[in-house]
Amino acid sequence: MDKKTIFSGMQPSGAITLGNYLGALKNWTTLQDEYNCLYCIVDMHAITVRQDPTQLRQSSRNLLMQYIAAGLDPTKNIIYYQSHVPAHAELAWILNCYTYMGELNRMTQFKDKSKSHSDNINAGLYTYPALMAADILLYQTDLVPVGVDQKQHLELSRDIAQRFNSIYGDVFTVPEPYIGKVGAKIMSLQEPVKKMSKSDDDINATINLTDDPATIIRKFKRAVTDNLAQVKYDEIAQPGISNLMAIYSAITGDSYESIQNEFEGKGYGDFKLRVAEAVISELEPLQQRYKQLSADKNYIDTIIKENASKANYLATKTLRKVQKKIGFPPIVR
Ligand code: AMP
Ligand code: TRP
Repeated sequence: MDKKTIFSGMQPSGAITLGNYLGALKNWTTLQDEYNCLYCIVDMHAITVRQDPTQLRQSSRNLLMQYIAAGLDPTKNIIYYQSHVPAHAELAWILNCYTYMGELNRMTQFKDKSKSHSDNINAGLYTYPALMAADILLYQTDLVPVGVDQKQHLELSRDIAQRFNSIYGDVFTVPEPYIGKVGAKIMSLQEPVKKMSKSDDDINATINLTDDPATIIRKFKRAVTDNLAQVKYDEIAQPGISNLMAIYSAITGDSYESIQNEFEGKGYGDFKLRVAEAVISELEPLQQRYKQLSADKNYIDTIIKENASKANYLATKTLRKVQKKIGFPPIVR
């Protein structure tokens, strides 16, 4: 009964990567027994950049299946589409009115995306953090497991919650970030100073969760490294090798020191192949389950329906409380 609540989400804006998996999804699966968890497919966030409708629908369903394939039990975790719970949009509007433009102006994701999508700097892209705050606050979330890149958004969510509470009393639980020690920032295999991202145009830069073994080996073989000829963790001098070490460590649980010892005096070729093999065996069971799930339409549809209904129930409870606090008239039945 008094389990703490966890909320997190991913955008269905393409095939998810090893970065998403190690930075987020893999950690999520370890939390399901100890916490009440909600994992959302944030399709409303995804439309802040232009999406093809057919592809968006497909990516959303794929992502939901990947959550389950990675080990999230859909009877223990509420796994659902954001657009199926209207309270997200309703609370986002309200929170927009408690968020300052100065705060939104500082968001690095907004600045980055404004550069990469300069033809479509829309208002949704700008107010995205208020929607994210709504996602989290609707469920009275205690902890939000995310990769490092989302820390700034989370801090803003906390500020919004505290601001709101200071005016109206204790309406929202103020959420804490939960950032894994390893895997929190997996970098591009081609430009290891940039994060691995599902929207990267260079297919060699990312490992997708659905990549087959041959593809995974090929991509790791081509991964950019350096000419220092030592497997050593040093993000500045050896970003490529450090990234491969981070991946290896996140999967095997080995410390950087023990990885250094393991590959002392060995060539980068050997190391890359070992990393590729570790990734392949980590992803294999996930890919198997994913294939099975893809064949079971009714099962997935039932999950979508039941979990949306659970999420709606919880979200509406908080939304009504907020509406009352700010002075919206009660609904007359
Ligand atoms: P997104 O791809 O932006 O929807 O991110 C979904 C989740 O994956 C968030 O918790 C991110 O922090 C995390 N994430 C995305 N890219 C990476 C990466 N390269 N390394 C680690 N975590 C990541
Ligand atoms: N902004 C997050 C990302 O791009 C996705 C997201 C939306 C999210 N709402 C959230 C993450 C709430 C955690 C909690 O990765």
